[in-house]
Amino acid sequence: MATAVDKYFELVDQHQKEFIETLREVVAIPSVSSDASRRGEVVRMGEWLQARWEALGATCKRVDPGKQDLHGVELDLPPVILGQYGNDANKKTVLVYGHYDVQPALLEDGWDTDPFTLVETADGRLVGRGSTDDKGPVLGWLLCAETHKQAGLEFPVNLKFCFEGMEESGSEGLDDIIVAEADKWFKGTDVVCISDNYWLGTSKPCLTHGLRGVSYFHLQVEGPGADLHSGVFGGTVHEPMVDLVHLLSTLVDPNGRIKVPGIYDQVMAETEEEERSYEGLEFSHKALSGDLKRDVIIHSDERTTLKHRWRFPTLSIHGVEGAFYAPGDKTVIPARVRGKFSLRTVPNMEPARVAELVTNYLNAEFAKLGSKNVMKVIETHGGRWWYSSPNHPNFVAAARATERVYGVTPDLTREGGSIPVTLTFEENLRVNVLLLPMGAADDGAHSINEKIDKRNYIQGIKLLGAYLHEIAVTDLTA
Ligand code: BES
Ligand code: MN
Ligand code: MN
Repeated sequence: MATAVDKYFELVDQHQKEFIETLREVVAIPSVSSDASRRGEVVRMGEWLQARWEALGATCKRVDPGKQDLHGVELDLPPVILGQYGNDANKKTVLVYGHYDVQPALLEDGWDTDPFTLVETADGRLVGRGSTDDKGPVLGWLLCAETHKQAGLEFPVNLKFCFEGMEESGSEGLDDIIVAEADKWFKGTDVVCISDNYWLGTSKPCLTHGLRGVSYFHLQVEGPGADLHSGVFGGTVHEPMVDLVHLLSTLVDPNGRIKVPGIYDQVMAETEEEERSYEGLEFSHKALSGDLKRDVIIHSDERTTLKHRWRFPTLSIHGVEGAFYAPGDKTVIPARVRGKFSLRTVPNMEPARVAELVTNYLNAEFAKLGSKNVMKVIETHGGRWWYSSPNHPNFVAAARATERVYGVTPDLTREGGSIPVTLTFEENLRVNVLLLPMGAADDGAHSINEKIDKRNYIQGIKLLGAYLHEIAVTDLTA
């Protein structure tokens, strides 16, 4: 006899075309949270989701987190859409989180096609900004519920959801909402599931039980009151850009070693159990350098690469505001520059300690320069790492669902990226949190030509549904 899950899988296969059209519709909404001029689109995307869930019968609450100050411009933060779909005392309650904002994207960045027009390629890629991060997965939950309803299939759990529009810009305002709603809107949550990450490779699914945190810094050097002519003033004034370049070069060496003293002191010791967890994972340097389009990998073996992605802190330099970067030659001495860098943090590093170490070190290094410029280190945000055990029944249910859809046992992975609210949910709702990815390693989140494979999208919609069915029959107290 065909089970409800078999029936659901069959329906998902039948509706593939529609599901891709729905993805096309949302990719066309350029909900870029970091771009003030697109804020209306971010809001429109949140409203789209709310309307669609309400049409299904969900109860939604739109929470407006307040105002944001973006370079002196006051902007309304996009809404957090809270929802409740089903309220049956005999069913378990699963809370899902996702984000409906996306990274910026311009054709000029090197995209082959318009980033906000979904393109289906002959080799099965669905290309468009947000396709994998995180619109595909966010749609997955909705399409799962819609499919059940249309076919008259009983929905296996009570679903709560929390969809935000500021994740790519530091989730401003969200922590406060989660804390405030922990015993209200989120009351009764049995487990949390987040689909906002990727497989380790391109063929084997995984479940994820760890994320790094991120501490972001601006390093500002201010000199003269205005930009200067380098012919007139070069060699006669302390140049902010020269100071900045010196300071940035003291942060990390070309082999990725962080030079800030003390930064490795809080890093958790390696255990034998952890050592074993790297065995048998679907991960190869060959595939990785293929994705990178050039072999620029620092380390000589896969295990070391994964350790530097998952369990060691890293420091990246992102850019310099105020520096001359346009094409051509301009003989300018920029008057004020701001270097931007971030550290990915791991167990058991504390953001406050990281900020203290970084600030003290840069102050000392700046003092060595003997410059009369003014230097300031600003920590713009500090999101914490998350590390949990993959033995909880929530993970067991997800592994069974994965086996059902893909026919393989998923790898257990950690991630180098950050989703700071993961820990906020875990701490405030005091329930297990699982990361269940839909996309693959080569999807190119944040990059040009971001895609999700049609296979991952369609099977992913099945996976999210199968997971909810598994949760329904899993003893979560085991
Ligand atoms: N989906 C990513 C998180 C992620 C990245 C998971 C890589 C797994 C691998 C998320 O949308 C993201 O980009 N997060 C930011 C957070 C930051 C803005 C606080 C990140 O990691 O840079
Ligand atoms: Mn994401
Ligand atoms: Mn992202």
